[in-house]
Amino acid sequence: MNGQGKTNPMFAITGITGKVGGEVARNLLAGNQPVRAVVRDLRKGEAWAQLGCDLVRADINDAGALTSAFKGAESVFVLVPPNFDPSPDFHEARATAATLRSALAAARPGRVVYLSTIGAQATQSNLLTQHTIIEQVLGELSMPITFLRPGWFMENCSWDVSSATNDGVISSFLQPVDKQVPMVATADIGRVAAELLQETLKGHRVVELEGPHRVTPNEIATTFADLLGRPVRMEPVPRETWESLFKSQGMKNPTPRIKMLDGFNEGWIEFESGEPGSRKGRVKLEAVLQTLIESR
Ligand SMILES: NC(=O)c1ccc[n+]([C@@H]2O[C@H](COP(=O)([O-])OP(=O)(O)OC[C@H]3O[C@@H](n4cnc5c(N)ncnc54)[C@H](OP(=O)(O)O)[C@@H]3O)[C@@H](O)[C@H]2O)c1
Repeated sequence: MNGQGKTNPMFAITGITGKVGGEVARNLLAGNQPVRAVVRDLRKGEAWAQLGCDLVRADINDAGALTSAFKGAESVFVLVPPNFDPSPDFHEARATAATLRSALAAARPGRVVYLSTIGAQATQSNLLTQHTIIEQVLGELSMPITFLRPGWFMENCSWDVSSATNDGVISSFLQPVDKQVPMVATADIGRVAAELLQETLKGHRVVELEGPHRVTPNEIATTFADLLGRPVRMEPVPRETWESLFKSQGMKNPTPRIKMLDGFNEGWIEFESGEPGSRKGRVKLEAVLQTLIESR
């Protein structure tokens, strides 16, 4: 209860044990807001319970459990776990979308922030089409919803820390390596999402978010080089080798991932309102890479 005798609004956060969800929750807790941690494994949520969160178990594909998890929440943060190898007809995303729509319609929270992606409006089929599908289905709900569309996560560079450190060479699927890419730190996404969860809203809106400036793959290499004190360079992976490479790594259907990379490289995965229309975060690449190196 607050000073006026009203119950404080409660925020239900999915994906809280992951990067963005964790940042969202940390921001809300720092503002003394009550948080319900929605986890698929209660043991993984213990740390959040110790920080004062209400802990509930719900898989993202369990409508009944999600309905209970979202009930009574003023705001819900919805994060769908990444699927890098979806079926050609994206039936997994369609099923998740239907489950989320049903749970949100039944629980009727005051507002929703859905973590989507840059390029969710793209018309060419690619890995991000999963978010296009979920945005469209959640768009059928009448409650206030913000579709938060961040750029490429700077934290994707976690895959490059060991090659930068040990070999001084990073393989790049983003090409050409001097092309600027809209990237953003998950700390900025979590901070902005926490703000959006607390804003009164009518209807639906899209918020596009990137970092303080766009980043080239070459800048990632030079930033690693500065931080590691050794030469580091980017090496483009030839486009014609991607399919066999991804299949050798166990992917059944590499086409959506390849098309997504094409979309970034060819520029058709971009913010709907371009660089001028996106919100800008504060966290710089250097700070993210420093943290990734320290936590290796
Ligand atoms: N990487 C990028 O460049 C980028 C760019 C734009 C948008 N996105 C989107 O951002 C999202 C990923 O965010 P992130 O990096 O913060 O994710 P993450 O760190 O990989 O965390 C995933 C979260 O989802 C939870 N989870 C996994 N399977 C689940 C299930 N079946 N039911 C309920 N929860 C489940 C995980 O819980 P456990 O701890 O139990 O596994 C974890 O909390 C994806 O939707 C992705 O498409 C990514």
